[in-house]
Amino acid sequence: MRDPLNSIMNGLKDALDLLALNRVPLLVSGCCLLLVFLFLYLFYLMPAMGLGPEQPISFSHRVHSGVKQIQCEFCHSYVKRSTFPGIPPVEKCLYCHKYIIPNHPEIQKEHQYFNSNTPTPWVKANYLPEHVFFNHERHIKKEVACRECHGQVETMDRIKGKNFKMGFCIECHKLKKANLDCWLACHN
Ligand code: HEC
Ligand code: HEC
Ligand code: HEC
Ligand code: HEC
Repeated sequence: MRDPLNSIMNGLKDALDLLALNRVPLLVSGCCLLLVFLFLYLFYLMPAMGLGPEQPISFSHRVHSGVKQIQCEFCHSYVKRSTFPGIPPVEKCLYCHKYIIPNHPEIQKEHQYFNSNTPTPWVKANYLPEHVFFNHERHIKKEVACRECHGQVETMDRIKGKNFKMGFCIECHKLKKANLDCWLACHN
């Protein structure tokens, strides 16, 4: 009769011997595996961390505002005149793209939205806490630049939005001596 505990201990010892014998190749393959994971992480995940949500059409502010120098107001036409800046309807894209790279697969998507009369389901990137009232018009009229709140949009392929917090609003309001009475001014 073999003692079960003894045979387990022996098995364990054999396994440890085997490990010790092969520790160099094991160490090498372990390191390789780690490097592969690190590479995959850096290659696929890191860049995405700097990017905003994926959009239905891969629209790039860098291409349009940076390289092609199209004014923000050309697309966000209501920013000076209303609470909401407005996201351009697909008609506005086609105004140019009927002629510019009309066969590009991403532009074909514009045609699909246009032909089926579906508003492009853009994913919202910026958020305000509920019940906070924000009005673009007031800020643009006082010449607060888009950049001060949205960063350098003209360098971004995919807009990475912000979760605007009250401290952000207050800091600048203090600096510019704007209204600080938040309950009256910002909360409804
Ligand atoms: C050619 C048209 C066009 C131009 C020019 C343009 N935008 Fe946009 N913008 C869009 C579209 C379309 C979206 C929605 C898709 C997206 O978020 O990328 C958008 C989204 C945004 C958003 C994110 C909105 C949100 O919360 O989801 C901000 C902020 C913005 N634009 C700011 C700017 C600024 C600042 C400029 C000028 C430097 C500018 N845009 C120029 C078309 C344009
Ligand atoms: C004022 C003209 C104009 C408007 C309006 C416009 N675009 Fe463009 N778009 C351009 C130009 C110019 C290019 C660069 C074409 C090239 O690379 O040859 C471009 C390139 C693109 C590309 C290819 C980008 C790339 O990564 O190479 C996409 C996709 C695109 N636009 C989508 C849109 C969408 C969506 C809208 C509407 C929200 C829009 N465009 C509105 C002028 C415009
Ligand atoms: C004082 C800060 C501030 C400035 C300046 C500012 N924005 Fe905004 N913007 C915001 C905030 C806060 C939001 C989020 C509003 C919300 O979710 O209701 C926003 C949202 C947006 C959106 C998304 C609107 C939507 O319907 O989802 C666009 C587009 C935009 N801004 C464009 C612009 C452009 C273009 C300019 C410059 C002409 C500009 N903004 C200047 C603070 C600012
Ligand atoms: C970069 C500076 C800056 C930031 C950031 C900013 N504001 Fe302002 N805000 C101003 C200025 C300047 C005025 C103009 C005051 C005036 O009309 O005299 C103003 C005016 C206002 C007004 C009108 C106040 C009144 O007198 O009735 C409201 C409401 C407001 N801001 C809300 C917000 C909210 C909410 C945020 C954050 C999401 C915000 N602001 C972020 C600079 C800023």
